[in-house]
Amino acid sequence: MGRALKIPNLGSKDFNENKYEHFEWLRENEPVYKGKFFVLNGFFLSRYQDCADMLRDDRFVRNRSTATGGGSRFPIPMPKSLNALVISMITEDNPGHRRLRLLVNKAFTPRSLQSMESQLIRLTDDLLDRMEENARPGSVIDLVPAYSLPIPVKVISMLMGVSDDDMPRFRNGLRVLTEGMSGWKIIRTMFRDLPNTIAFTKELIAIKKLAPGEDILSGLIQAEQDGEKLSEDELISMVFLLIFAGYETTVHLINNGVLSLLQHPAEMDKLRSNPDLGATAVEEMLRFRGPIQSSKQNYATEDVKLQGIRIPKGSMVMPLLGAANRDPRFFDNPEQFDITRTPNKHLGFGYGIHLCLGAWLARLETKVAVNQLLARFPNLALGVDEKELKLQRVSFWHRYESLPVRI
Ligand code: HEM
Repeated sequence: MGRALKIPNLGSKDFNENKYEHFEWLRENEPVYKGKFFVLNGFFLSRYQDCADMLRDDRFVRNRSTATGGGSRFPIPMPKSLNALVISMITEDNPGHRRLRLLVNKAFTPRSLQSMESQLIRLTDDLLDRMEENARPGSVIDLVPAYSLPIPVKVISMLMGVSDDDMPRFRNGLRVLTEGMSGWKIIRTMFRDLPNTIAFTKELIAIKKLAPGEDILSGLIQAEQDGEKLSEDELISMVFLLIFAGYETTVHLINNGVLSLLQHPAEMDKLRSNPDLGATAVEEMLRFRGPIQSSKQNYATEDVKLQGIRIPKGSMVMPLLGAANRDPRFFDNPEQFDITRTPNKHLGFGYGIHLCLGAWLARLETKVAVNQLLARFPNLALGVDEKELKLQRVSFWHRYESLPVRI
């Protein structure tokens, strides 16, 4: 702290791998930092109050062309053919945002998801049985394919009415979006993977139109047919957003949460002996090491002054949620992982009108997944030295390649 640390490009490997160190420096030295994310110039906020205020300030919008008074909606022009994937509620402002969100909001309320807890207990029991069958006590297995990944995949496939067999087709299409958009990957993404994903989504919609079910996708198709509620592109982007947001995130919250417990055995013991602490433990997992470290890009519709820094109209602004979540101005002992922390108003699910739609579902999935895992394996431990854990290079996420655990 205080020393002159040069902040690298926010899209760099260095920034990703040392994010918490960089966050601390930014928070203490340049809380409104003018920097670069790959080729994009922007302002990066790292103090809690600035991030929360910005996310509720309607001088900032998601649609870039509103702020710049024309031009492209995105910082890098996208082919029109991909609009169906990139324009969704998360990149829309009101009133368009409200209209899209209201169409799916109901499906994600605690009441609609009432039966989910018992289904989750059955699902995790099955996965844990399989882990026990396939590995002897004391052996090391990767938690991702065995446990953290299949849980949200199954949940989202149930909710959306997509069969388990079809999920990998989405996964391939989606992975490219998060695996860095550099060099030839952009070409492959734009011209092969994303069009394939769109085609596949259209196929799925066509099948559901013929044979609707009780799932969210069938409900959305009904909404489309009932009037001008959703265009086909909007329907595709909604399906894509729900599947993507609902599954990539939860895998890594379960993983990061389990890792935090393994690194803090006293907290793990506390949870093991009192599973009712599950709810506050999940909030702390989101605060301490949440999978998402920034919101989507926001743009200033007028000149705004923040912490004495002028943010000119049209500028890109990103709140570093992971930095805000460890701001000592807001949290006592923010570097301490404390599963009983209350209150815990972290920004791990974002804030303002784009606050995570699936927050309740994600909380439930993670609570059940972690409690069930701890109950089944009393000797659970990290299966490798901490230093061997590799972060995936995905900007503004915190996600590991794998999580080897000893059961
Ligand atoms: C651990 C799990 C999750 C985390 C950490 C997470 C995090 C977030 C964050 C930070 C945002 C705000 C992004 C922004 O402002 O740009 C967001 C929005 C969103 N999340 Fe989640 N999410 C999780 C799980 C889910 C699940 C299970 C769903 C359900 C399908 C979901 C659906 C969405 C949607 C649709 C939005 C956009 C909401 C809007 O624009 O109004 N998320 N999420």
